[in-house]
Amino acid sequence: MTLPPGPVGPQHARLNAQFFQRDPLGFLSHLADSFGDVSRFDFGAGPIVFVHDADLVRSLFRFHEADLIKPEFLRASNAAHWGDGLTTLDDPGIWHSRRQLLLPLFRARLRAPRLALAAELADETCARWADGEQIDLTHELRILTARIALRTVLDADLEDFCDDQKLSGLVPFSEGYGEDFTTAIDGATGVMQMTRPRASRRMDGVLSIIHARFDDPSDRGDVLSALVNAHRADPEALSVQDVIGEIIQMLFAGHLTIPFALTQLWRDIAQHGLDSQVTGEATADDGLLRREMTIPVTSRTMAILRESMRLGPPAPILYRDVARGFQLGKHSMVEGHGIWVSPGLLHRDSRYFVQPAAFRPERFATGRLPPVSAKAYMPFGAGPRVCIAASQSVSQMVAICHAIARKFRLEPVSGVGNQFEVWRRPVI
Ligand code: HEM
Repeated sequence: MTLPPGPVGPQHARLNAQFFQRDPLGFLSHLADSFGDVSRFDFGAGPIVFVHDADLVRSLFRFHEADLIKPEFLRASNAAHWGDGLTTLDDPGIWHSRRQLLLPLFRARLRAPRLALAAELADETCARWADGEQIDLTHELRILTARIALRTVLDADLEDFCDDQKLSGLVPFSEGYGEDFTTAIDGATGVMQMTRPRASRRMDGVLSIIHARFDDPSDRGDVLSALVNAHRADPEALSVQDVIGEIIQMLFAGHLTIPFALTQLWRDIAQHGLDSQVTGEATADDGLLRREMTIPVTSRTMAILRESMRLGPPAPILYRDVARGFQLGKHSMVEGHGIWVSPGLLHRDSRYFVQPAAFRPERFATGRLPPVSAKAYMPFGAGPRVCIAASQSVSQMVAICHAIARKFRLEPVSGVGNQFEVWRRPVI
C-alpha cells in the first residue's frame, strides 16, 4: 500500500489547520509544490489526501464516486434541520434514483420559461434602484436568487416583494433568504464544522405550502408538484420527509453561488473594461432573449462569465470522505481518509491554461475549451455528481446580467467587496 507523501503526524495537524484557515488555496498550492500532485496532510480528526491532477480528479469522480461520501460538515450544511436531498444523499442506489427523478426538471426544454422568469424578476430588482445609488449587490442578488428559486421550486415568492395571489403562497423573508452558511475549524479538535446551515431553522411558511400540495391534485409545473406526484406513485421510495428535505435543499442550492458569481462578474466587467461589450450584446439580444429565450454558447457575456468563474469559482474546493478503500493512480485511498480537490487551483494551473493568471474570455469564445483545459475546468464539479443545474445556472446568470446591463451601469466601490454604484443608462 503506497500512501501519498505530505505533512502528517500530530505535530503537523494544528499547523496545517492554522495555515489553511489563513489562506486555503495558498496552503493547498504549497502542498502541491512541495509534495506533488497527490499529497496527504493531517487535519483535525484524520488525514486528508489532496488530489491536484486533472486526469486523476476526473478518474476519481468518474469511477469512484460510489466509494466516497460527503464529509459531515458538508452534510450538516445542507441537511441540518430539514433532512437529506440530492446534495447529501450518500447511498449510491438512493442517490441514483433521486437524480433520475430530478434530471427531467432541468431539461433544456424547460429552460426558456425559467430564463424569462429570471429576466422579469431581474427587471423588478433594477426597478428598485435609484440613479447614482450605492447598493450591496450580493444582497440584492440573493433576494433575486431566492425569488427565482421560490418560484421554480415551490410556485411561491417572497412576501413584501410580490403580492400575486395566484401563486401557491408567499414566504416570509427570513425563510426565503436563508442564512449565511459558514464553516469554521474547531480550535480544540481541528475538525472543520458547520457553524450555520443554509436554510433557516423556522420554515413554517415553506412547510405549509409543501403540506398543502399533498392535498392538491393540480400540477403546478414546479419541482414540488413533480415530487408530490412521485410520492403518490411510490410513497415507500419517496416519503413526505424526503420531499421536504429535497425541496428545502433545492431552495438554497444556488442562493450563495449565483450571487457570488454574478457579483464577481460585475467586478470583472468593470475592471477589464467590458461594459460596452456586455451592453452591446444585451441590447442586441433583447429580441432574442425575450422572444426565443435562448442564449447561444458563443455569447460574449457567457464567455466573460465562464472566465470569471475560472479565476473565482464559487466552490473553490470539493470535499469527500473515503467510504471504501481504492487505488487512485499509484496511491492507495484509505477508508476514513478525506479527499480534497480544488477547482480554484486547477483553474490557475499553467499545465492546463495558457497564461492562467490573465483574464481572457477569448478562451471560451467558441463555447468549447481545448481538451487540455476542459478536463481541468470544473466550476460545477465533475463526474456523475456534477451540479444538476449547471447549464440552467449559466444561462440564467447571463439573462440576469443582460437584464441589469440594459438598465444600469455598475461601478464597484472598491476592487473587493459587494458595494456598487448603479448608474441608469439613457433610454435609447
Ligand atoms: C453559480 C451557480 C452554481 C454553482 C457554481 C454550483 C456548483 C456546484 C458544485 C461545485 C456542485 C458539486 C459539489 C460536489 O461535488 O461536492 C454542485 C452540486 C449540486 N448543485 Fe449546484 N451550483 C450552482 C447552482 C445550483 C442551483 C441553482 C441548483 C438548484 C436549482 C443547484 C443544485 C445542485 C445539486 C442538487 C447538486 C448535487 C448534485 C448531486 O450530488 O447529484 N446548483 N453544484
